Amino acid sequence: MTIYQFPKGFKWGTATASYQVEGAYNQDGRGMSIWDSFSKTPGKVLNGDNGDIACDSYNRYEEDIALMKKLGITSYRFSIAWPRVYPEGTGLENKKGLDYYEKFVDKLLENGIEPMCTLYHWDLPQALQDNGGWTNRETIDAYVHYTETVFKRLSGKVKNWLTFNEPWCVAFLSHELGHHAPGWTDLQAALDVAHHLLVAHGRTVKLFRELGCEGQIGIAPNTEWQIPYSNKEEDLAATRRRHMYLNMWFTDPVFKGEYPQELLSYYRDKGYNVPVQPGDMEIIAQPTDILGINYYSSTVIRSAPGNGVLELDYVDVEMEKTDFGWNIYPEGFFNVLTWVKEEYGDIPIVITENGACYEAEKKDGRVDDRKRTLYLRKHLIQLHRAIESGVNIKGYMCWSMMDNFEWAFGYTKPFGLVHIDFKTLERTPKDSFYWYQGLVKKGWFES
Ligand code: NOJ
Repeated sequence: MTIYQFPKGFKWGTATASYQVEGAYNQDGRGMSIWDSFSKTPGKVLNGDNGDIACDSYNRYEEDIALMKKLGITSYRFSIAWPRVYPEGTGLENKKGLDYYEKFVDKLLENGIEPMCTLYHWDLPQALQDNGGWTNRETIDAYVHYTETVFKRLSGKVKNWLTFNEPWCVAFLSHELGHHAPGWTDLQAALDVAHHLLVAHGRTVKLFRELGCEGQIGIAPNTEWQIPYSNKEEDLAATRRRHMYLNMWFTDPVFKGEYPQELLSYYRDKGYNVPVQPGDMEIIAQPTDILGINYYSSTVIRSAPGNGVLELDYVDVEMEKTDFGWNIYPEGFFNVLTWVKEEYGDIPIVITENGACYEAEKKDGRVDDRKRTLYLRKHLIQLHRAIESGVNIKGYMCWSMMDNFEWAFGYTKPFGLVHIDFKTLERTPKDSFYWYQGLVKKGWFES
């Protein structure tokens, strides 16, 4: 028997994001975001689903917090919808939106749950998109102005902050690959967006210090371990390109003050550039307090000359997969975490997302999702190995507290510990909820 004992004071939590759970899309003066428009554009989201109602957490937050309390978590990661605070992105602030988040945070605190707030989880105000969105450098000013307003209202109550969730998705998935809002397919635009996000991150961290806010601030990139298909030189080089593209494009600038040089010159040779202005890299590399890591899956890579800008292919080596079709590769979690420490040093890390999509029906009041529990166990074992290996990991936020709107896949990809019936909005804890509840209570599990 092996016991996986987690450190004392380890933060156990769950995560969600505004557009995915809140609903109430036109309530209390909320403005429109790029996800309102994107999801209502035919063909962009599966089944034409949108987040108008989602889990209706905006109105049912007390019920949700009661479930968090029942789960026993000590932290909850949520995001603020920028268009609730500034319906037009900038200009007139919407007091009701800010009041809502303060009320919400107070309720968490009353229940002994520490809030962890993501300032941007993809719902850019549509008004800013109409002006070029993140490709326009002025959006940085609008973002910093918005975060200042949020800090002024919530700092002191919220002590854990993340500037951006999965900046790779914001830049590349949304502007190069076109799968997410605003749905562009232009690599140069994606590189511009990536750079503007980084500058916005740095300026907000700087502001956080200048305002004397108490607590910690960082960024939450998505990660995937990249596995070379073979040890052929060209497969190793392709794997490295994807590693720089997916894992290093944001963390290198933040922690080293420079872009991964190899990929930067590779892009230059193909005519793509990063719009760096004097002083940008220093601003981006402001010391941050924490690094959020989102990890779900890993990819096997092989060189494929002529295939896309990066000239590579993903190989399906028939690994076991979740119901999303994502490879299950728990060792990749360990590899990512130990790599972060080797590459960037002893930064405090919070796992800001990890979890799995599995469909499970509700039968006689119960939802048997044993595959999710198995996925979580396997990943938590690797997390434990990383902690034992000296990686400074402070907490784990399971994605997700509840089933929700899974972006381009609408309501077809459930990740929740709590099942949501999207017709009645009834909440039912799944079996994995009870397993996680036991872990949170004891701080260990065994195999
Ligand atoms: C990462 C994203 O941050 C989150 O919004 C999404 O639902 C999960 N991954 C699952 O795909």
